Amino acid sequence: MSIQRTLVLCKPDAVQRGLVGRIVSRFEEKGLKLVGMKMLEVSPDLASKHYAEHVEKPFYGDLLGFITASPIVALAIEGDNAVEVVRNLMGVTNPQKAGSGTIRGDFGLNLTMNLVHGSDSLASAQRELALFFGSDELYDYESALHNWT
Ligand code: RTP
Ligand code: MG
Repeated sequence: MSIQRTLVLCKPDAVQRGLVGRIVSRFEEKGLKLVGMKMLEVSPDLASKHYAEHVEKPFYGDLLGFITASPIVALAIEGDNAVEVVRNLMGVTNPQKAGSGTIRGDFGLNLTMNLVHGSDSLASAQRELALFFGSDELYDYESALHNWT
């Protein structure tokens, strides 16, 4: 058992399309625990920190324009092996290739507007959670369902 915390972003297309509730439900239904949640606008500065590994890539202009275009909802999610479990629930980067039953596979058609972000490793999760949440915005509490999931 390895309890981890990871960052999920419901990207601007998820908010604009009214899919945030259904996306959050996917994580809740799986048995993962929400430990932080907020709406915010991503500034160009925050985008470049969050996507530091992509700043020099040819698609960064599209990614920056998209992620700063409209508010997002950030989630901090906790659970056993949460980093990998969340990535599996999201599906692969390109929604056209993501399996059905995944968030991107079920709701997406566009490589840039792919609905969600999930940290890709435990180190990324720790770095990214600190970018989006203060320690007073993350909650430690006992889940009533914990013994049954
Ligand atoms: P994310 O970071 O948003 O969770 O997505 P990811 O790990 O599945 O994919 P990543 O390689 O980190 O890419 C970050 C985002 O950049 C956009 N992208 N566009 N045009 C392209 O070739 C291209 N490649 C990636 C995607 O929107 C991806 O989510
Ligand atoms: Mg990534």
